[in-house]
Amino acid sequence: MSAVLDEKTAAPRFKAPEHSFTLAANLGTGPVSVEPYRSPAYFELERERVFRRAWLYAGRVEALPETHSYFIKDLDVCKASVLVTRGKGERIRAFHNVCSHRGNLVVNQACGKAERFVCKYHNWSYSSDGSLMGIPDQKHFFDVDKKTCGLTPIACEVWEGFIFINLQPTPEVSLAEFLGPFGTKYAGIPYFNLDETIVIEADFQANWKLICDAFAEPYHVPSLHPGTLAPGFAHPEDNKYARPLSAMAHGIHRHFSAYGNPQYVPAPESKVERMVYIQDTGGVLGGDAQGNAAALWSHPAINPTKDPNWSADVTWIFPNFNIDYSTGGFWTHEFWPVAYNRTKWTQRIYIPKTASVRHRLQLEHYACRWAEVVLEDVTNCERIQRGLESGAKDVMHLQDAEMLIRHNLHVLDNWVKADRVADALK
Ligand code: FES
Ligand SMILES: [Fe+2]
Repeated sequence: MSAVLDEKTAAPRFKAPEHSFTLAANLGTGPVSVEPYRSPAYFELERERVFRRAWLYAGRVEALPETHSYFIKDLDVCKASVLVTRGKGERIRAFHNVCSHRGNLVVNQACGKAERFVCKYHNWSYSSDGSLMGIPDQKHFFDVDKKTCGLTPIACEVWEGFIFINLQPTPEVSLAEFLGPFGTKYAGIPYFNLDETIVIEADFQANWKLICDAFAEPYHVPSLHPGTLAPGFAHPEDNKYARPLSAMAHGIHRHFSAYGNPQYVPAPESKVERMVYIQDTGGVLGGDAQGNAAALWSHPAINPTKDPNWSADVTWIFPNFNIDYSTGGFWTHEFWPVAYNRTKWTQRIYIPKTASVRHRLQLEHYACRWAEVVLEDVTNCERIQRGLESGAKDVMHLQDAEMLIRHNLHVLDNWVKADRVADALK
């Protein structure tokens, strides 16, 4: 525990951890090549060696509330359209959304509920378990075996309500092997506030890792978020540079725990925030008053040093998915590459149904604050891409709080070099 009690304020003082997160993760400390951010050739390697071989997040189970619910997940990076269904027996499955007749995309609606999927071109029809049900005018086909003409299955597994898919025809490793120590450490976390989601999406002219990196370190908080996050996530004396409480690799995945300023109170001019803000409703971001915070706090993976000055945990599941936790609930980021310099980013913030007018106001404030903060986070990503593509710099310099970025580049390098996934996981 790094806090000592300040007699004047009775607030826990923060003492930054003295050990190096980077060295503890067995990473080097030298400058890092920026080639992976600007090289089209490297991007092709990522496409083939990372995204076509890794387990990729597709959606939450709540997006499939009933038998025959489905949604479509388009993966530009793998040039795939994926149909995820809940078929009979509640089993969640994934298929290539591609017709066995002549290759049309079968389902064109983003989500819904259907017992059968009918391809619009010639009306071939498929059941929600992917089997081919009907071929109009079948007698004029030549030896078509309906049994082998179902939708092409995609490996699909669920971890803690998160649905993952793998585009290898037979995945080299299971989802549990892929998640490794992360999957066991982060099992059993209570996911509350699943009633509604706020979705923020954007397309960027920037490499996908630049968007990931924007959420991977707190070092930028005082400079990039001076009026929004910094007052709650940094301290002018105790923690001027928002030094994280912990930062660790968990196999190929990783996390950092963000500091929260225990003395934070909204500024006098922040009239709406002052109206809705109370410390017990989710700390600096607000959001929930149902006592869920205690259950989250007590989980050993959350804020692993149990520092009282905690505000949020950022977890980064390799390659492109974040699950982040705060006392008000959780939110996710997906960073989907489109090209070496184009990215589609989706953030989902999970919020509860409101119980009162005050609660509604609090959640509205929470959502607006979020929008402000993430806009600050991503607006400079396209400028970084331009800076890197100019060729002015061949390396970047990462400090200890930026360990997650260094770790990602290290893991990525292993994956693009490894012939077998088992080697990439070492
Ligand atoms: S391509 Fe689907 S029915 Fe012909
Ligand atoms: Fe930020």
